[in-house]
Amino acid sequence: MIVGPNDGPMACGEFGPGRLAEPPEVLTAVRAFFTPKDQPLSGRHVLVTSGPTHEPIDPVRYIANRSSGRQGHAIAAAVAALGARVTLVSGPVALADPPGVAMKHVESAREMLDACLSALPADVAVCAAAVADWRTSRSADAKIKKVPGAPPPALELTPNPDILATLSASGPRRPRLVVGFAAETEDLIANAVAKRARKGCDWIVANNVSEEGVMGGSENTVHLVTEAGVEDWPKLSKTEVARRLADRIAEAFA
Ligand code: CTP
Repeated sequence: MIVGPNDGPMACGEFGPGRLAEPPEVLTAVRAFFTPKDQPLSGRHVLVTSGPTHEPIDPVRYIANRSSGRQGHAIAAAVAALGARVTLVSGPVALADPPGVAMKHVESAREMLDACLSALPADVAVCAAAVADWRTSRSADAKIKKVPGAPPPALELTPNPDILATLSASGPRRPRLVVGFAAETEDLIANAVAKRARKGCDWIVANNVSEEGVMGGSENTVHLVTEAGVEDWPKLSKTEVARRLADRIAEAFA
């Protein structure tokens, strides 16, 4: 196996092929070399979104939500462990990048959509991110100051693009399997079934986010909604939910 050399400026002042490949590139190549080629998702490209998005109000403030990114990151790691090439588009999280996946770090929903579209083509898309539904109509270039005696500023909101729905409707570039999540606090299954139809995706992983410890926690009780019906999974760690989902994805491509 040969990695590099890469093009670019060199210490001697010349420009051209001669630079040592960056360590992440070397690591990815070494992992690929030692990954058995007959894994269930070998040769498949899986796109995963994870974490919250941050929608700026001004340079120091933003709108966000409680998503930790744990579930999405665990899914990226689980499909990579089955041999997939993985692109993980992540909003701001306090988690380490899972090893062996190509990372795209983003902040806002619009950046997340752009990163996803530029990662296509993909065989599978799993949208686990808790994308902010709205952003401010205008984000201020300078910090909004308090004006003594004046009322607080009103935030005018505008809808964000729906990444899951966009990927589901991306025509010939649509991933063969598109999986979304449904974060609900009431009428879980009915809302998830309706969401699957509305967003045009193939599967929905539904969870009740009003349960203590789900949003930001490490466990999840989910229901898998597919064309064939609804499967109830037991309460599992997010890592275990990710492994089961990865196995189901592998079965769908078997
Ligand atoms: N999603 C997305 N882009 C958005 C909003 C949601 O890709 N702008 C995706 C999420 O990643 C998830 C699915 O859509 O896979 C459902 O997200 P959820 O928050 O449950 O639903 P919403 O679309 O926000 O609908 P509602 O708030 O009405 O429940």
